[in-house]
Amino acid sequence: MKKIAIFASGSGSNFQAIVDAVKAGKLDAEVSLLVCDKPGAFCIERAQNERIPAFVFTPKDYAAKSDYETEIYEKLKELDVDFIVLAGYMRLIGEDLLTPYEGKIVNIHPSLLPAFPGKDAIGQALAAKVKETGVTIHFVDAGMDTGPIIARQSVSISQNDTRESLQTKIQEIEHQLYPSVLQKLLHS
Ligand code: GRF
Repeated sequence: MKKIAIFASGSGSNFQAIVDAVKAGKLDAEVSLLVCDKPGAFCIERAQNERIPAFVFTPKDYAAKSDYETEIYEKLKELDVDFIVLAGYMRLIGEDLLTPYEGKIVNIHPSLLPAFPGKDAIGQALAAKVKETGVTIHFVDAGMDTGPIIARQSVSISQNDTRESLQTKIQEIEHQLYPSVLQKLLHS
């Protein structure tokens, strides 16, 4: 059984979708750990409800990124984690995780990359008045949303779409796409 760690900073709806897919038998994996850099984030409550261990930390308590990433790496090794899944984790991954997990870290981003990388991709798409945007799942490298693309799915933007309605459409796709792409990646 492949073991995954999910990294999140916020609500964790993608964390939940992945856990639910495992419970439904659609994803053959074990979610071994939640890593969260925001004490108080709702994803932590979700992990507690699912009895999944969480490593929660405050980046400012550490002198450097490599200090907390080394600590994270120790936890991942302890638990024999094979794969890292970023799901709304609002930080760049540094060398201390990229090197040992080369080719084994993925991210989901709410746009059709390479369009609208970085923060507030949904707001960026609305401001650009494009007719479609979407979801991208990609391997993680040292850049911001720049690694090799694994899957993309588009979403059309209608004139009446608000940020909320567009976010809802995007998240519905994310919650289907992420578990199914993970299933293929982990078992190919
Ligand atoms: C998702 O839209 C994801 O694409 C982006 O951050 C959001 C996280 O949402 N990277 P959630 O915490 O999974 O609900």
